[in-house]
Amino acid sequence: MPKNIKVSVLGDGGWGTALALVNLRCGNEVMLWSAFADYEKILQEGRENVKFLPGVKLPTDLRITSDLKEAVDFGDVLVLAIPSQYLRDVIFRIQSFSYQGKILVSTAKGIEKKTCLRPSEIIRSVLGEDLPIVVLSGPSHAEEVARKIPTLTVAASGNLKHAQYVQEYFRDPQFRIYVQKDLTGVEFGGALKNVIAIAAGVCDGLQFGDNTKSGLITRGLYEIVRLGVKHGANPNTFFGLSGIGDLITTCFSKHGRNLHVGRELGKGRKIKDILGEMAMVAEGVDTSLSVHQLCEREALQLPIMGEVYQMLFHDKDPGEVVETLLSRTPFEEWKAFDFSSFQPK
Ligand SMILES: NC(=O)c1ccc[n+]([C@@H]2O[C@H](COP(=O)([O-])OP(=O)(O)OC[C@H]3O[C@@H](n4cnc5c(N)ncnc54)[C@H](O)[C@@H]3O)[C@@H](O)[C@H]2O)c1
Repeated sequence: MPKNIKVSVLGDGGWGTALALVNLRCGNEVMLWSAFADYEKILQEGRENVKFLPGVKLPTDLRITSDLKEAVDFGDVLVLAIPSQYLRDVIFRIQSFSYQGKILVSTAKGIEKKTCLRPSEIIRSVLGEDLPIVVLSGPSHAEEVARKIPTLTVAASGNLKHAQYVQEYFRDPQFRIYVQKDLTGVEFGGALKNVIAIAAGVCDGLQFGDNTKSGLITRGLYEIVRLGVKHGANPNTFFGLSGIGDLITTCFSKHGRNLHVGRELGKGRKIKDILGEMAMVAEGVDTSLSVHQLCEREALQLPIMGEVYQMLFHDKDPGEVVETLLSRTPFEEWKAFDFSSFQPK
């Protein structure tokens, strides 16, 4: 294997920028693609991502472009760090360039509206089923990764060799990567924790205590497992970095955007006003709509995620939501699962 590789990071948000910095630290040659030419200019001239990752210097050896063809041509590996609702558009544009033979690393944590597809499914639906795709996920806030705070993640691919490739080339002492094969479970964990984080934020906004929030997160995990397993995920995955690991970070971190959305909702603010003043994307909002659509299709009841949808899309009052959830009859704690007999697909 070569000592270093060329990596193109598509997406100049907080996460794309942090991953570009990790790759530079690993000795790789890196190009960062911005979707907007005027913002590319700001990045080039100021060498700081003032909008999405302020306070972190961008070294001069980080190449920056807004020419998508140039970025696709450059990388041996293409990292997709684009929020899931914009991903399809970018993938459509990549279609006419030479992406064949390159490993695609998908990092979006969401589920597309209407199609209800996971990011890797969006990519495959446009670029073809046989692509080498690796999903990189886990408790990894950009703000911390960029500042070299030790972080543990997981690279998942149906073909373990592709995940190991990413592990080999993207890893440095502060960015540890485990591998595994359950891409479905890793993507469901990453997307659904954002919806639960909104609910956790509502608990904070209503000034509930640690008991309430811990209980909510635990029952939220149960809902994540239910939906994920129904789609073929391995239940064990949800007890790993991309499941409980990311759920904990998202529900407690000061960097959590979905947590912020929930907190403001809990204080009684309107969702339109909350989102209107955020530059960054809170993926849990759209994902909550996708989860609602999936549950309708599959006649599945997920009470917490259902109530988050009601608050976001039907202005249901958080106080009423609490009443609805607490008046449900409690049943056997993990009744739907017998993990020991699970057979991964
Ligand atoms: N920030 C994190 O810590 C983190 C960590 C892991 C995964 N992720 C995931 O990575 C993905 C990217 O998130 P982020 O935090 O870097 O985003 P961000 O909120 O920091 O930035 C938004 C990004 O969306 C881009 N964008 C806006 N409109 C667009 C359009 N029409 N077409 C293409 N791109 C457009 C912006 O240029 C910018 O790159 C998300 O799915 C997120 O869940 C984020």
